[in-house]
Amino acid sequence: MSSWQPYSFRERPVEQAIRYPDAAALEAAVSRLRAMPPIVTSWEIERLRAQLAEAEEGHRFVLQGGDCAETFADCRSDVIASKLKILLQMSLVLVHGAQRPIVRIGRFAGQYAKPRSQPSETRVIDGREQTLPNYFGDLVNRADFTEPARIPDPALLVEGYMHAALTMNFVRSLAASGFADVHRAHQWDLSFASGAQLADDVAREYRRTMKELLDAIRFMEAIGESRLEEISRVELFASHEGLHLEYEAAQTRTVPRREGHYCLTTHFPWIGERTRRLDGAHVELFRGVRNPIGVKLGPSATADEVLALSRTLNPQDERGKLVFITRMGHGAVATRLPPLLRAMRDAERRCLWICDPMHGNGTTTSTGRKTRDFGAILGELEESIDAHAREGTVFGGVHFELTGEDVTECIGGADGLREEDLDTAYATACDPRLNYRQALEMAFAITRRLRAG
Ligand code: PEP
Ligand code: CO
Repeated sequence: MSSWQPYSFRERPVEQAIRYPDAAALEAAVSRLRAMPPIVTSWEIERLRAQLAEAEEGHRFVLQGGDCAETFADCRSDVIASKLKILLQMSLVLVHGAQRPIVRIGRFAGQYAKPRSQPSETRVIDGREQTLPNYFGDLVNRADFTEPARIPDPALLVEGYMHAALTMNFVRSLAASGFADVHRAHQWDLSFASGAQLADDVAREYRRTMKELLDAIRFMEAIGESRLEEISRVELFASHEGLHLEYEAAQTRTVPRREGHYCLTTHFPWIGERTRRLDGAHVELFRGVRNPIGVKLGPSATADEVLALSRTLNPQDERGKLVFITRMGHGAVATRLPPLLRAMRDAERRCLWICDPMHGNGTTTSTGRKTRDFGAILGELEESIDAHAREGTVFGGVHFELTGEDVTECIGGADGLREEDLDTAYATACDPRLNYRQALEMAFAITRRLRAG
């Protein structure tokens, strides 16, 4: 294989490439990014790798979640805090199901670039069809449906970096200040006080789980259990799709006293389903960094592709290095997933398998709204749990698009959200997310399934 450098990706075909009209402005933005301090550190990245290595062995369970697309407008304290709350709450529920410590990874602090199936978008404005370049996320262009808004703007790269830094700063402060201490679990959901937000049985189940958990923690405190600090101190890692390679490469560096390069925009970048071709630019950039790397695998992924990706992205077969995020779609898991699991298992190659039950389950309503059905999402998870059990591989975690807000984007769940309800609070900048109640309900459903064995 040819030698790797932070910019060797420029020699490779770039899927989802962004064409900037002003090359000098792009270079100016990228050189500013190169001079800025990193968003995360190599220490944190190595720590995440160590935890993912344990997850591979079945000793930890990953919860990864957040918006499909973060927006600069949502870089606000209430939105970020409620996202953390739902992740923390879900993780506590999942401890019960998985009976393992949870590795919490947010889709935040940089989830600003979106791959699109279509390069352009057509809308009917005042009775006339108008076609404009698609919206590729706040890092690239603006969502407004006007021509100037849709022109890729390099200044957004620097703005994106700054919003990512602001978000990470707030996440770190909350985590360090005791907000994320499990002793305060009862404060993570203020809506319980009013009692009106969750379906009764979900609220009851949550309170019971919290009580059992806090009782267990108090018991361990009483007997001086040494791992307690780890259990009650909650860590949060950041992740995003490593789509915009100029943004990622500008923060890909060596650091003092460590070998190799780190991509310091995030702890855990992943390569999307649309950009995972073996000879492509995305695989090229990320094969050279020490971070753990995720790769989305959709229903077209073959065993040969998966083995080739593992040899390229993890040539030394290191622990905690490669995460395959499968997103086959409800109904497709039983035929699509087992050949991939068997290929890696039989080749004795290491990876962590987690399931994204969102991206294979998108549908469009008769009025043109993108949605996902709670039952299909849960169905894909259950089929994946079964497939791993049959193949003797580790079902290592889950990946969701969710929000702590009270949106109406996915149908189903205990509230029985229907297509007709979607207009009430449809707010996503991209794909439909589980709302607060659906997300918590999902965590309970997984827990029941995992406990049933
Ligand atoms: C995403 O995670 O938002 C995404 C676009 O996923 P995928 O690459 O799996 O389609
Ligand atoms: Co998405």
